[in-house]
Amino acid sequence: MAQQVRARIIGTGSFTPPKRMTNADFEKIVDTSDEWIITRTGIRERRIADNGTQSSDMAVEATRRALEMAECSDEEIEAIIVGTVTPDYRLPSTACVLQEKMGFPNAVAFDTVAACTGFINSLSIGRSFIESGVYKKVLVIGVEKLSSITNYKDRNTCVLFGDAAGAAILGPSENGRGVVSTFMKSDGKLREWLWMPTGGAVNPYTPDFTFDGSDKIYMNGSEVFKVAVRQMCDAALRVIKGAGLQPSDVSVVVPHQANIRIIEALAKRLGVGMDKVVLNIDKYGNTSAASVPLALDEANREGRLKPNDNVLMVAFGGGLIWGAALVRW
Ligand code: ACO
Repeated sequence: MAQQVRARIIGTGSFTPPKRMTNADFEKIVDTSDEWIITRTGIRERRIADNGTQSSDMAVEATRRALEMAECSDEEIEAIIVGTVTPDYRLPSTACVLQEKMGFPNAVAFDTVAACTGFINSLSIGRSFIESGVYKKVLVIGVEKLSSITNYKDRNTCVLFGDAAGAAILGPSENGRGVVSTFMKSDGKLREWLWMPTGGAVNPYTPDFTFDGSDKIYMNGSEVFKVAVRQMCDAALRVIKGAGLQPSDVSVVVPHQANIRIIEALAKRLGVGMDKVVLNIDKYGNTSAASVPLALDEANREGRLKPNDNVLMVAFGGGLIWGAALVRW
């Protein structure tokens, strides 16, 4: 099937804050163990931003690195799309805060709210801008300061999350290389399986609000787990088919790093060996929207992504929402 490929990832960058929080640190604050966390999730440690470091600050660092790799100036960028559920402010967007911090005089900046699928969705939108001829260069970011919405009294969730940023510059395609196919889907009926009940317009903070965990992430982990495996597999197969490929044609898989068992189940269902899967969950845990671009950037800088490799990105998150992208690198 002939593919019209117009948008290519011409640079990647990422940032993780230096402070590490290990499984041993969690043994001191909740009823858990290093052994449980490693065997049930694959996580050994995660990075935590300090109080003075916000999502926009981490996005700035990741963006600098991506611009440098792409040899692109901030004037060339025409759109900035930031996937995040941990914006600096409810208003304005973190993309606009980033713009204020870095320049980008010729760009429109806005956020997408798609939890762990935030980067894939932003990438899909950016790709469409380029394919339709609206813009030539787009900055796409996934960033989270999940520590700001994590309930450190809830062992079901607190051991999972970390802070990070990842960025990619989308530019014109070259020799058929670029984003070949993308897919996005959601099911709002399942929104209460992964959500934060308090803090929005429905349940705003009141002067007598006392901490009950409702303004932090709540997750029905075991139910989310099952949907995640099924829908990530479906999304992956759709973009593989959309690119006119078979699962055996996939060179590298860059999955959302939520749980090693989800990733292994996905690889098994796709019939793709784990040697093709990029893994960094042990070092960073689940960084939501930052997860895929962080793993992508690490794989890119390690030289794991070769020209014309079929790179599959796939993610799943609160919404519930999921998506995938197939990129001919
Ligand atoms: N330490 C020790 N025990 C624990 C811990 C912990 N940190 N957390 C849960 N447990 C216990 C539970 O209380 C439960 O005990 P019980 O049987 O006595 O009730 C037992 O372990 C099993 O609990 P489950 O929730 O069934 O454990 P599961 O094997 O499903 O693992 C996990 C939980 C890791 C959360 C898993 O379900 C998961 O990864 N879910 C999907 C996460 C995901 O993909 N999220 C989407 C992206 S996140 C986003 O969008 C921001």
